Amino acid sequence: MKYRNFGKLGIECSAFGIGCMRFPMKKNEDGVNTVDQEIANEILHTAIDNGVNYIDTAYVYSDRQNEKAVGTALKGGYREKVHIATKLPVWDVKSKEDMYRLYEEQRANLQVDFIDFYLIHSLNLGQWKRLRELGVREFLDDLKKQKKITYACFSFHDNYDAFEQILNDYDWDMCQIQFNYMDINNQATIKGVELAGSKNIPIVIMEGLQGGRLANVPGSVKKVFESYKEKRTPAEWAFRWLCNFPQIGTVLSGVTNLEQTYQNLETFDKTGVGIMTHEELEIVDRAREEYMRRIKVGCTGCRYCMPCPMGVDIPGIFGTWNEAYKFRDDISKNGHYNRILNDGHGANKCVACGKCMEKCPQSISIPEMLRQANCELQ
Ligand SMILES: NC(=O)c1ccc[n+]([C@@H]2O[C@H](COP(=O)([O-])OP(=O)(O)OC[C@H]3O[C@@H](n4cnc5c(N)ncnc54)[C@H](OP(=O)(O)O)[C@@H]3O)[C@@H](O)[C@H]2O)c1
Repeated sequence: MKYRNFGKLGIECSAFGIGCMRFPMKKNEDGVNTVDQEIANEILHTAIDNGVNYIDTAYVYSDRQNEKAVGTALKGGYREKVHIATKLPVWDVKSKEDMYRLYEEQRANLQVDFIDFYLIHSLNLGQWKRLRELGVREFLDDLKKQKKITYACFSFHDNYDAFEQILNDYDWDMCQIQFNYMDINNQATIKGVELAGSKNIPIVIMEGLQGGRLANVPGSVKKVFESYKEKRTPAEWAFRWLCNFPQIGTVLSGVTNLEQTYQNLETFDKTGVGIMTHEELEIVDRAREEYMRRIKVGCTGCRYCMPCPMGVDIPGIFGTWNEAYKFRDDISKNGHYNRILNDGHGANKCVACGKCMEKCPQSISIPEMLRQANCELQ
């Protein structure tokens, strides 16, 4: 495993970090959907046995059961080998007391004495201002002082200006951003990477494959990658590109099975700062240009928008729509969309209440895009 510099913290973490958000779910004996603990154990143990030392979870993942599953998997000596990162669910915070209550609940879920990286989850400027008023900075200082957390951090979904403001507003130990070769001008942007780097604040990357989209690229993008002399998967190109940046610490990948875990372990072993040649960087630029022509909506399938009060399958519809564009299928009379409609989860059910938009990290105009999807896909 390659280890990477965490800037001002003076520590090194594995280049590959396990993002636990996408662990598969299955029904338990009571018919309740829970994390498939067997697969979670398999993924985490394999990764850690092969040198991964950074594990990312959050209170809200897997219907709020992810932290517990991670805590369970890390028993038996694994916890001591890793840095655990989890996130305060800002949506549940109405007071400073809520922050302390949620922290203690999270620590109990994880079955640990302290949390290494404690992040304020999914900050945008509005949330940051609200939480700052509630005293989140003092809360973080206090947890650090009490050694209940080691590092005070945030994960981010907004634009560059918001990122700059938040980054400059507290003495952060780390920031987690969405970044990949398609998002150089989106979210924190490449300027945000440089800004954090200039302050020596380590960066952890999420959505490095845009939730899997960059692993499954359309044929024309694949052809661009295949024009290079060495054979690499699209996922390898995406991770290699990220690890080329000196400012970037760990790159999370939300693996869903053991095969992806092994593939990524191998891929990250071949990465490094500044190792991409001019020719390779040009290939990624060409792949980006080609991809841009084929995307309809920037949904990464994170499901933060769900559940929709009207039962609309928002990520399912956007995924179907993008797939149709990506592969230039006949966009209308889409079979998959018809199934969603027949199941009562179609875009026709949207009443534009806007609840989803408050939570969408990508700031997608969801009701408007649903309206368009509904017109185009049938
Ligand atoms: N803080 C936040 O606001 C926030 C938001 C989003 C994510 N996160 C965290 O960041 C982590 C990483 O983000 P992400 O899950 O979106 O990561 P990602 O790496 O962009 O996407 C993960 C998906 O990529 C596919 N994949 C992974 N390795 C692959 C491989 N070798 N070959 C082919 N496909 C591969 C899998 O999709 P398939 O299973 O479909 O094949 C997997 O579910 C999350 O798990 C979560 O812990 C945090």
